[in-house]
Amino acid sequence: MSIPQHVAIIMDGNGRWAKQQGKERTHGHYHGAINIRNIAIKAHQMGVKVLTLFAFSTENWKRPENEVSFIMDLPRVFLNQYLQELLDNQICIEFIGEWEKLPASTVKICADLLEKTKHNQGLKLVLALNYGSKAEIVHAVNEFISHHPHMLIDEETLEAHLYTSHLPAVDLCIRTSGEKRLSNFLLWQLAYSELVFCPLHWPEFTQQDFENTLKEYESRHRRYGGL
Ligand code: IPE
Ligand code: IPE
Ligand code: MG
Repeated sequence: MSIPQHVAIIMDGNGRWAKQQGKERTHGHYHGAINIRNIAIKAHQMGVKVLTLFAFSTENWKRPENEVSFIMDLPRVFLNQYLQELLDNQICIEFIGEWEKLPASTVKICADLLEKTKHNQGLKLVLALNYGSKAEIVHAVNEFISHHPHMLIDEETLEAHLYTSHLPAVDLCIRTSGEKRLSNFLLWQLAYSELVFCPLHWPEFTQQDFENTLKEYESRHRRYGGL
């Protein structure tokens, strides 16, 4: 089986899933966070090298305050429940996006997750937190201009200034919940990725569904503009 090196997931549908169960949207976010553990472990077992998950967008601040603050507490829940398992499975956590601008208590937990898993040699689990792709590209260009005010930027240099510069190209991007859009996620990085839109909501997306999606990926023929 040809395994994608880098899989990205837009984990969508937490709120709708919870409503279907007759529960509050936050119930969906809790189960969504739990599911990160399941899918990360499966990805690791299948030999995926990098799993990048869209957890909170720069646009998600528009949501009601109680929902946002519930989400901001989820890294703590995740750390408390799964740190040992992350260590046992050699999973290394990283963040992309302006995560250092999140509430101080969230930043502290995220820094803890980073520090405690940084020597793990297995799957890199990259959480996009307070992430927006347009902001990322603008940030990259501004970084470049500030150091080279009289030069023109090229593709390679722009790429080298993105948050993902140290990661392999994204091979496969999955969006759950049936929505078929990118919602400002990895716009540059997905230029030649395979896309899979899955009707299931994120909390109900199982390890078997992940495996099925990888099989679908295997059946694709990537041409990159060639023949
Ligand atoms: C994805 O689920 C998680 C975040 C955006 C934080 P949603 O909260 O968007 O769930 P739906 O799309 O409203 O069902
Ligand atoms: C995208 O989902 C962001 C995350 C999954 C974190 P949204 O639910 O915010 O996207 P839209 O608003 O439906 O486009
Ligand atoms: Mg949504």
